[in-house]
Amino acid sequence: MRPYDIILKKRNNFKLSREEIKYMVMGFVNGEIPDYQMAAFLMAVYFRHMNEEERYYLTEIMAKSGDTIDLSPIPGIKVDKHSTGGVGDKTTLVLAPMVASCGLPVAKMSGRGLGHTGGTIDKFESIPGFKTALSKEKFMNNVRKYGIAVVGQTANLAPADKKIYALRDVTATIDEISLIASSIMSKKLAAGADGIVLDVKVGSGAFMKDIASATDLARAMVNIGRRHGKETVALLTDMDKPLGLTIGNALEVEEAINTLKGKGPSDLENLCVELGAQMLKIGKISPDLDSARKSLRNSISTGKALEKFRELVEIQNGNPKVIDDTSLLSISSNTYEVLATRSGYVYSMDAEKIGISSMMLGAGRVHKDDKIDLSVGIRLLKKTGDPVESGEPLCILHYSHEEKLKESVNMAISAYTIKDVKPKSVKLVHGVVQ
Ligand code: URA
Repeated sequence: MRPYDIILKKRNNFKLSREEIKYMVMGFVNGEIPDYQMAAFLMAVYFRHMNEEERYYLTEIMAKSGDTIDLSPIPGIKVDKHSTGGVGDKTTLVLAPMVASCGLPVAKMSGRGLGHTGGTIDKFESIPGFKTALSKEKFMNNVRKYGIAVVGQTANLAPADKKIYALRDVTATIDEISLIASSIMSKKLAAGADGIVLDVKVGSGAFMKDIASATDLARAMVNIGRRHGKETVALLTDMDKPLGLTIGNALEVEEAINTLKGKGPSDLENLCVELGAQMLKIGKISPDLDSARKSLRNSISTGKALEKFRELVEIQNGNPKVIDDTSLLSISSNTYEVLATRSGYVYSMDAEKIGISSMMLGAGRVHKDDKIDLSVGIRLLKKTGDPVESGEPLCILHYSHEEKLKESVNMAISAYTIKDVKPKSVKLVHGVVQ
């Protein structure tokens, strides 16, 4: 076998065997196949795509390229949740304690933010003292004893994906369905859950800008999960505007705590209920989606979910006082109001621009190793559909460094389109793929 022949075969639109895919992927991981040949291979896949069987093999090979987590010592069905990435997406912070308080064990491995989308691990680290680096033993023990643990992704989880992703990033080969689906699913398979609920974001702040391409991605991931024996469901959810009213790490923790107190924005609470219902159904905690939804709403109204969050914070060394007094979160008190330049309705928002504006303040990373500022971000006062008067604030920027402010303000202003007419309201969940 030679890399040249495999590249040629894919370039000429032929189907690759498991052995050929394994030869390319593992050869690249081991350093035997150079970047230029792997880049050519990825470009061939970009234009010729992969069929269902090829995607299945590619995912399996990447999943097994490093550590795999065995969750079988934890009793019960373990169900993971994954979002394809959005702006203001603090779902895991709310959802994990909700479902855990309903009896579903949550063994969550999460990532850090990159680009305009945030990461769950950074958000948790805005809670003073909260530790996200737990040993494997501690992680497993916490899930067994308390039903919940959240850790950062181990360095050696799906290393093939890590190496291939870095190359895709610089060779314009990120946005191909087979490559995205196998990248996400390889990490989910390696993380060891029995079932997977996918939150595939659609809209201006998401990878997939329209419902048709989001459906294709969802279908590809669901098929990969199923073929690997995991019950997998995908929800297509709105990311044409940010989720909730805050973007930025400590700000999002504050909003997550308020949501667990029943005082959060309805889109965030409703999304957690919809995703959680799928998780409770797969985990056989609830017989159907309606009873699952009731249990989840109940977990908020009774305070059960909030108490589970408090327990999670305590067992991972965080300061639980932040739950009763969110002013203990370090949110920058330097604020700047972005004002509407005309009256009308917020007709649309470019969620990606809002994410970039927050990133420019320091809330996100441009490069993987950048240090982020947990105290900065954006509080939205107006979202799509809201009426607004000229001179009224659209959003408030919390900043640390004045020199970062100007660019960020301009980006936030350009994210809003105001018109005389009210836009049609958009559904939170566009569809379910299973
Ligand atoms: N997220 C991933 O983990 N991989 C992709 O390819 C795209 C989004």
